[in-house]
Amino acid sequence: MMKKRIAVLASGRGSNFQAVIEAIQQGKIPAVCVALITDNPGAYAIKRAEKAGIPVKVIDYSAFPSREMYERALLLAMQQADADLFVLAGYMRILGTGIVHAFRGKIMNIHPALLPSFTGLHAQQQAINYGVKVSGCTVHFVDESLDCGPIILQRCVAVLEGDDEELLADRILKQEHECLPEAIRLFCEEKLVTDGRNVRIT
Ligand code: GRF
Repeated sequence: MMKKRIAVLASGRGSNFQAVIEAIQQGKIPAVCVALITDNPGAYAIKRAEKAGIPVKVIDYSAFPSREMYERALLLAMQQADADLFVLAGYMRILGTGIVHAFRGKIMNIHPALLPSFTGLHAQQQAINYGVKVSGCTVHFVDESLDCGPIILQRCVAVLEGDDEELLADRILKQEHECLPEAIRLFCEEKLVTDGRNVRIT
């Protein structure tokens, strides 16, 4: 099977990006990572990309006069990457509908909660505040609504007494680092079939 071209969008630390880089290097995913695209010139993910020899495209959000102009530049960068799959790995902005429409079924996101619970920011703290006993992570395709597209994979994590946001986030992150590369592998091996909200693994 031909290797797929994947591009990663990340805004910060990039530990999920690193997990994807390593899975590719270890031959676990039949893909080549063709670009890291970031909105943040200070993102540590940039260093990870450079170390792995992955081209970096910085689209500095703060350098654009409007969200529309930023989105236009991002769309162009995504088109130029010519990727089969775009992976949002800690990309901290909402993608505009123009981009979602342009790449429908080709964008996946990782979220640190069991969706549809606890969308948006501070999902781990939301889980603690609500008092759930189990949380986790979700990899899903991206649609027009925030953290809402068809679910590909989920992993559960216990919420323990005495957990604070950081402790729970660390426990969930370990699962994210397995779940995201696994979902990408399934995509690259063409094993995901989406039927409405349901994603079947064939
Ligand atoms: C992860 O928890 C991810 O689920 C969320 O943002 C965090 C990014 O972490 N969307 P990292 O940059 O991959 O280390």
